[in-house]
Amino acid sequence: MHIGFETSADSEIHAVIVDEGAKLPEEAIQLDEASGGLIAEALSAERFTGKLGQQAMVVMPKSAPARRVVLVGGGKRADRTPDTLERLGAELVKSQGMSGFSSLSFLVSAPVDAAHAAAGAELAAYRFDTYFTKLKPAQKPSLERFALVTSDVDAAEAAFIPLAAEAAGTCLARDLMNEPPNILYPEAFAARAKALEAEGVEVTVLGEEEMSKLGMGSLLGVGQGSVRDSQLAVMRWSGGGAEAPVCLVGKGVCFDSGGISLKPGPGMEDMKGDMGGAAAVTGAMLALARRKAKANVVGLIGLVENMPGANAQRPGDIVTSASGQTIEIQNTDAEGRLVLADVLWYAQETFKPRAIVDLATLTGAIVISLGQEHAGLFSNNDDLATALSKAGEASGEKVWRLPLGEAYDALLKSRFADMRNIGGRSAGSITAAQFLQRFVDKDTPWAHLDIAGVAWRDSAKPATDPSWPSGFGARLLSRWIADSYES
Ligand code: BES
Ligand code: MN
Ligand code: ZN
Repeated sequence: MHIGFETSADSEIHAVIVDEGAKLPEEAIQLDEASGGLIAEALSAERFTGKLGQQAMVVMPKSAPARRVVLVGGGKRADRTPDTLERLGAELVKSQGMSGFSSLSFLVSAPVDAAHAAAGAELAAYRFDTYFTKLKPAQKPSLERFALVTSDVDAAEAAFIPLAAEAAGTCLARDLMNEPPNILYPEAFAARAKALEAEGVEVTVLGEEEMSKLGMGSLLGVGQGSVRDSQLAVMRWSGGGAEAPVCLVGKGVCFDSGGISLKPGPGMEDMKGDMGGAAAVTGAMLALARRKAKANVVGLIGLVENMPGANAQRPGDIVTSASGQTIEIQNTDAEGRLVLADVLWYAQETFKPRAIVDLATLTGAIVISLGQEHAGLFSNNDDLATALSKAGEASGEKVWRLPLGEAYDALLKSRFADMRNIGGRSAGSITAAQFLQRFVDKDTPWAHLDIAGVAWRDSAKPATDPSWPSGFGARLLSRWIADSYES
C-alpha cells in the first residue's frame, strides 16, 4: 500500500472525521449535497454520533465525486492526541483494506495530524503472507493507495519522516518474528542484520570461533546443542560525533525448545518468537538510520538456538562467562539470561557506553505479573528508568518498573559456582534481572526490559497491531534515544 500526502481528494473512497457532538464538517456537507442527502440519512439511520472509533459507510450515487464515503468518529475535539489520529488511520485501513476499492483519501487538514494518521495506516497495513501459496484475489488487500489530504503537503511529509522510519523499524521487527525458525536461524538472522548496511549501519558478525576466543562460554553453552552456529551481530549507527555510544542489547533465541529441560509441547511453536528482543533492537537500528538520528548507538544481538541433543548443555554443567564469573546451569530453559550475560559484558567492555538497555522475552513470570499491557522494566538508574517510562507513554509501548535488591540477588547462590542460572520459584522475573545485573558495572546506567508479555499478544489488540508479533520495542527505543540524546 502506498501512503502519501496531497491537497485534494481524488480517490474512490473519501474518509472524513466527524467530531463528537459537532456539526458535519464542510467536506461532508458538500458530499451530502452531491448525494442528495444520503450522508445525513445514513448518519441518523446508523446511530452515528462521532464517538471515537465509530465508522459509518455510505455508498454514493454515480454523479458524486466518490464511490464510497466513510465518516470516522473523532471523539471529543478536546481529547484529540497524536494517538487518536494514528488510531483513526489504522482503523480505516482495517475496515477498507479489503473492501474491493483501491484508493482512499482521508481528509486530515492539519499536517502533523495527517502525518500521524499516515503512521497509523502504515502500521495497520502490515501483513506477513510469505508462506501462503493459495490466496485468491479476494483474500488479498485491495487498497493500493492511502492518501492524506492536508493543507500543507511539505509540512506533513517532513513530520512523517521520523514516524515512517519508526513504523519501518516496527515492521522489520515483526517480519523477523514471523519468520519460522527453520528459515530464521542465527546465521540467517545475522544476514538480515547485515542487510542494514544498505541503510548506512555498520555491521559486524562474530561466529563461534571468535566468541570462543572472547571466552563467551555462557552464550556458547546455550547454542551447543544446536547444529546451527551461534552468532553475535553488532550494528553501529554513528550520527552523533565523538561522544560515547548508547548500547542496545537483544536476546535472539531463534528457537527456545528449553533444551534438555524441555518445554511442554502445546504452544512451543510460539518460541520462534524468543528472538523478539533482538528483533526490536534490529528494528530500532533501522528506525535510527532511516530518520538519520543524531546519536551514536550500537545494537548487539546474541543469536542462538536452544535445542536438546547429544551435545546439549546439561543441568549441572558449569560454564565460564566472558566476565570470568562461573555459572551452574540448573535449568537449560533459563537460557536467555545466559546469552545476555556475555553480550552485556561485551557491550560494556568494548564500547564503554553511556547507557545499556537490553530487551528480552525473558520470563513467563512477567506475563503473570504484568499481562500483555506493560513490559517489565528493571534498572540500576532512576533517571534512565524515568526516561524509558516516558518514552513508553509517548510511543504507546508501555513499561512498568519492578524492584531489584540484594535479597533477590541472594537467591542466585550456587553450591558449586559463583551463581546458578535460576532463582527458585518466587519472583522469577526479578531474579532473572538480578542475574543480568551481575554482568554490568554498577556505574554503567543499565535497564532491562522483559518483553515476554508484549512481544506477541492474544488479547484484544489495536488496529495498529494487526499481526501475531507486535514489534514492541523499536518505537520505544527510537523515541527514548530522540528524547534523551538528540535534543
Ligand atoms: N523464552 C522463555 C520465556 C518466555 C515464556 C517468553 C513465555 C515468552 C513467553 C525463557 O527462556 C524461559 O523459558 N524462561 C523460563 C525460566 C525458568 C526456567 C526459570 C520460564 O519463564 O519459565
Ligand atoms: Mn527458555
Ligand atoms: Zn527463552
